Amino acid sequence: MSQITVKGGKPLVGRVDVRGAKNLVTKAMVAALLGDNASVLRDVPHISDVEVVSKLLQLHGVLITHGEDGTMTLDPSNVKSARMVDIDAHAGSSRIPILFCGPLLHQLGEAFIPDLGGCHIGDRPIDYHLEVLRNFGAVIDKQPNGIRLSAPDGLHGAKISLKYPSVGATEQVLLTSVRAEGLTELSGAAVEPEIMDLIAILQKMGAIISVDTDRVIRIEGVKNLDSYNHTALFDRNEAASWAAAALATHGDIFVGGARQPEMMTFLNVFRKVGGAFDIKEDGIRFYHPGGDLNPVVIETDVHPGFMTDWQQPLVVALTQAKGLSIVHETVYENRFGFTDALVQMGAQIQIYRECLGGNPCRFGQRNFNHSAVISGPTPLHGADIRVPDLRGGFSHMVAALAAEGVSNVTNVQLISRGYEHFLTKLEALGAEFTYTE
Ligand code: EPU
Repeated sequence: MSQITVKGGKPLVGRVDVRGAKNLVTKAMVAALLGDNASVLRDVPHISDVEVVSKLLQLHGVLITHGEDGTMTLDPSNVKSARMVDIDAHAGSSRIPILFCGPLLHQLGEAFIPDLGGCHIGDRPIDYHLEVLRNFGAVIDKQPNGIRLSAPDGLHGAKISLKYPSVGATEQVLLTSVRAEGLTELSGAAVEPEIMDLIAILQKMGAIISVDTDRVIRIEGVKNLDSYNHTALFDRNEAASWAAAALATHGDIFVGGARQPEMMTFLNVFRKVGGAFDIKEDGIRFYHPGGDLNPVVIETDVHPGFMTDWQQPLVVALTQAKGLSIVHETVYENRFGFTDALVQMGAQIQIYRECLGGNPCRFGQRNFNHSAVISGPTPLHGADIRVPDLRGGFSHMVAALAAEGVSNVTNVQLISRGYEHFLTKLEALGAEFTYTE
């Protein structure tokens, strides 16, 4: 297991560049499966989630080649079925395999999807996905280590309404409906920028998709799709993570590739907390301008709300704000596990089952610890900690970098699921650490 020994207490200063968003790139790669010809995706980051999806696509006969500067070519002209054991062996750490269902059903008439991995931040069921697929006419057979799908009568457009604007279920509908026969109407859709970018990709391939008001998306199925040539949307989660790192360490980080429109909600909160930013043509500079940080009350939500993935790194900065901050997590029922390590490092954080500081959410009145009260400022000190999940892990690293003294952080390989060249970037920002495999 990989470990980092960090000597904290030093501001992170310098430049990092972000590339294509993990939560778009992996889906764009799956979309290439739907085409007749080779697609080109640009700005693909070197992260392990991309490697997992590459491996799965290759098992299904997609020819993947890498060009300069993160350009990836995906040729689906020889798509074939893969062996269940091979799929199972390679999919373990990702949630993306569930999105292979529609494209594989269109291309091969069948699909096998292993039980899913992903971060342990809640139960993370796939019931919406399965319901969506059944609506299109898929037949689902539960097997000991996954599900087998077939579509004996083909896939047909459907009228679908999501109980919650799930990102993954919306992508499932898009990737299945574009080649299903007839019209699909999806209401209650998620409209995250990554989803809009996926829609742009599908349109380039020949799909007909309209995004209407009130979270309604309409898709007119077409028989065939061609290919795309696309530069992926930047990773706004990574950008927000570095922004929070700058604030927590009293630092100054220029995030090359970050853009204002997709980060507006984050920027408002960052400013309210007392962080400063300068928006430039090629990125955003985030810095601690000196003085006290302010407490805030935030509620995570689907777009255009404050993203759940921004919450964890920001909580580290909130331990340094003067007063009580409240974070109400309404997307995942169990995303505060990472705060245990922060408390061990000296933070004062209380977790509550109640919906605090905002509107009641679907996790209220149940046994879900989904609200946090952070009392600051509290000096942080080094500790021995274990990375629990991707964003929580990044937060632990930021806490270790902000803390006085030495921290040993284990299980750090999890961070490479979503942060490209993480250690090289830390080095460029002047962090003091040693790494052991
Ligand atoms: N949900 C269900 N049933 C389903 C699907 C989802 O109950 O069948 C629930 C989830 O349990 C959760 C909520 O709906 O409580 C929202 O889940 P959603 O489907 O929107 O999330 P996802 O597609 O699994 C993606 C990102 C997450 C990000 C969320 C929200 C990817 C690979 N993952 O997950 O990213 O937090 O959307 O924006 O795109 C991360 O990058 O660290 C990460 C966890």
